[in-house]
Amino acid sequence: MEVQGPLSRVVLLGTGGTIAGHAESVSDNVGYRAGALTIAQLLGTVPTLKGLEAEVMEVAQVDSKDMGLPVWQRLVQQVRQCLVRDEVQGVVITHGTDTIEETAFLLQWVLRPRKPVVLVCAMRPATAVSPDGPQNLLDAMAVASAPGMAGVVVVCGGRVHGAMDVRKVHPYRLDPFSSGDAGVLGQVEEGRLRWFRQPPVTDTPADSDLLTRLLSADALPRVHVVPSHADADPQLLDLLLAPQAWPKDRPLRGLVVEATGNGTVHERLLPALRDAGSRGIAVALASRCADGAIASHPGIEFEVFDGLSVLKTRLALALRLLG
Ligand code: SIN
Repeated sequence: MEVQGPLSRVVLLGTGGTIAGHAESVSDNVGYRAGALTIAQLLGTVPTLKGLEAEVMEVAQVDSKDMGLPVWQRLVQQVRQCLVRDEVQGVVITHGTDTIEETAFLLQWVLRPRKPVVLVCAMRPATAVSPDGPQNLLDAMAVASAPGMAGVVVVCGGRVHGAMDVRKVHPYRLDPFSSGDAGVLGQVEEGRLRWFRQPPVTDTPADSDLLTRLLSADALPRVHVVPSHADADPQLLDLLLAPQAWPKDRPLRGLVVEATGNGTVHERLLPALRDAGSRGIAVALASRCADGAIASHPGIEFEVFDGLSVLKTRLALALRLLG
């Protein structure tokens, strides 16, 4: 196993997830407690990383289904502080698979890092007969120290996904992610990174105002997802849009419609959505299709964040409304 570059220049941040999960039985791959092990304990389970003098920090120990602003704030702050240090080549973050795509998106959107920020996870707990976490962690370390690597990526099952494209598409497979039409960025082969396309380097600097607002926010602006589907019920929107539905100090600020196909919306939902827009509630569309992006055309009435999934659109809108 060849890992490129000095591993000690990679900082490891722990947030929990199945990769740090503990089950009572070694044969139990699903009934475990996510985030049970510390990042230091996790390192100890990987023979080739044992004794590595890497800098390790525990940001959280959560099941990522419970991810939210307080952990994101701590994580963004820690990653930022690590990346400004000249001696740090990159950051590896252990995370649960369930919301890793949202955390990856958030980190890329607000930090736009020019060094590698590699999120890594596992589908089996650390206590499994054959856990996938140790190899994924080794692969993540290889990616974080690979020459030319920059930006936020997710590494799992030997494949490297860009933050903007990655989605969890399977609840059980050891390789549960897809990058859709964009495809994976590359794959790790025996500690070497084989690129399939360019890493997501951006020349646009991070928006320092957005960062400040994110780090000082008590909550993200309230943005909810509304699905458009056959037999859609407009009463759901009536309930969401009722003036008394939300506290005055944290009103509903935005809606993301999980739209059919190329951004179409059930006719029963349209009147309330138009009304919401005219009352200053931001309305955005994202397609419920797993792959592809909404192709722009004059009939699209609401905003579209090009190429983003429903959940990433929700975050992008909430971050914009933070301003
Ligand atoms: C989690 O997302 O924290 C639990 C599930 C997983 O990591 O696969």
